[in-house]
Amino acid sequence: MKRYVILISGRGSNMGSLLDAGLPGACAAVISNRPDAAGLASAAGRGIATAVIDHRGFASRAEFDIALAAGIERHAPDLVLLAGFMRILTDDFVRRFEGRLLNIHPSLLPLFPGIKTHAQALAAGVRIHGCSVHFVTPALDGGPIIAQAAVPVQADDDEASLGRRVLVEEHLLYPRVARWFLEGRLRLVDGRAQLEGETAVGGALHVPLTEPKGN
Ligand code: GAR
Repeated sequence: MKRYVILISGRGSNMGSLLDAGLPGACAAVISNRPDAAGLASAAGRGIATAVIDHRGFASRAEFDIALAAGIERHAPDLVLLAGFMRILTDDFVRRFEGRLLNIHPSLLPLFPGIKTHAQALAAGVRIHGCSVHFVTPALDGGPIIAQAAVPVQADDDEASLGRRVLVEEHLLYPRVARWFLEGRLRLVDGRAQLEGETAVGGALHVPLTEPKGN
């Protein structure tokens, strides 16, 4: 059975959706860079091994990433899932795990990389927002997109309401993509996401808009 490790920094709701999805693989560990991440307790409550590698204990980003890589490798995972992991990773780390390192980002990339993505979307006035799952490469939030889910932006949205609507889609999208990978159907090939057995347009997949409630 394939093994995966999840990296978190906080709440861990995406981690929860992965752990509860009945994925065809075993979660070997949940690792946090923050000792106070709420997701650690919910992982432990599901019987998953947890570890903290606190970035504040390291003199440099490179040293932290070396320790993090070692903490991951001891579980010999086939797949590493960033789920609200809020540290920028060094190129060396990313290259070491390239092709087996996925991230979920709360925007329709390449729009709105970085942080505060819902505020960025509202400020830009886009009518459609969403989330993306992508392979991680050294370009921040710039790796090959695997799948995206879109939500409408409503006239009375604020950051919180828009974020909640996107999060519902995140919780559906990430387990779906993780399943593809664990089934051996999803690969990074020549810098593009390649998926067997699905209609793929240019290596990216499209998920239709969820019907707004009440319509
Ligand atoms: C999620 O919205 C995730 O997409 C985002 O942080 C949130 C974590 O929530 N990730 C990033 O912004 C990565 N740059 P969670 O801890 O409840 O999953």
